Amino acid sequence: MGSLIIHGGAGRLESLRTRERDWSGSLSEIYSEAEFSLKRGGDARSAVLLAVRLLESDPLFNAGTGSKLQSDGEIRMSAALMDGVGTIFSGVINVRHIEHPIDLAAALSSVDHHVLAAAEATDYARRLGFPFHDPLTEERLGEYRQRLAGAEGTVGAAALDDQGRLFAATSTGGTGFETPGRVSDSATVAGTYATAQTAVSCTGRGEEIVNLAVAARVAVRVQDGAPLRDAVARTVAEGNALSFHFGLIALDRQGRPQVGETAGTRVLFATRTEAGELVNFMEPGEFSIVR
Ligand code: GLY
Repeated sequence: MGSLIIHGGAGRLESLRTRERDWSGSLSEIYSEAEFSLKRGGDARSAVLLAVRLLESDPLFNAGTGSKLQSDGEIRMSAALMDGVGTIFSGVINVRHIEHPIDLAAALSSVDHHVLAAAEATDYARRLGFPFHDPLTEERLGEYRQRLAGAEGTVGAAALDDQGRLFAATSTGGTGFETPGRVSDSATVAGTYATAQTAVSCTGRGEEIVNLAVAARVAVRVQDGAPLRDAVARTVAEGNALSFHFGLIALDRQGRPQVGETAGTRVLFATRTEAGELVNFMEPGEFSIVR
């Protein structure tokens, strides 16, 4: 049957609440498409890649097309894929002018060196045949001209397939207006991690996610025997104690989805509950978020 959860960033930090309905509609559509592929026998890797690719293509979200600009006016994108069964993390940091950073991260999972950065990552993409793509949108250019740092935005997915394989994937355009070359959490094991027991993708303030090694911390807690909900609750409490701002989505090996968020953070998510109800951040129903 499989199980899937996706996110489109940390909405409250974006301060653009009027967009909630648009975000919600897009997330539900993208969720349904990726879930359809999973339910038709697709594997978890394909499902997270499809979900993140669709999120990168949607200019509402800060990843791929629609990424924010760094302070020098350039877009630099980062993405990662984590194979929980093979225990392989692969990622790309500050790549430019490609349509799907997540595809480059995925391509790196099967070669010797799993993480590439900056101009060399872009050169590598070209050698693999990734064509030039300008991810700039008018809206992001307008935000840049108004010097809107916009806080944080990221997209991500976690999936479990019929074979029990767990994968996590994350992609981001960064915070907007950051120091050129700043490295986001997304393409680190703090922002994206999975084991045979759980898969986690984070959103929020990258520096704080790295400070607490959030995704890896949750995954290790589960590996050491904690139920996912407890692992997330403890990690969120630690984040709150430090006044950190982050959120996360996660799945355990039974396919149970979990969302966690620190105070002042609101994860834009979509998933299906154990009871089979399609829920999202605007209409969570009975779905319980750890805060
Ligand atoms: N979480 C995305 C970033 O801080 O770049």
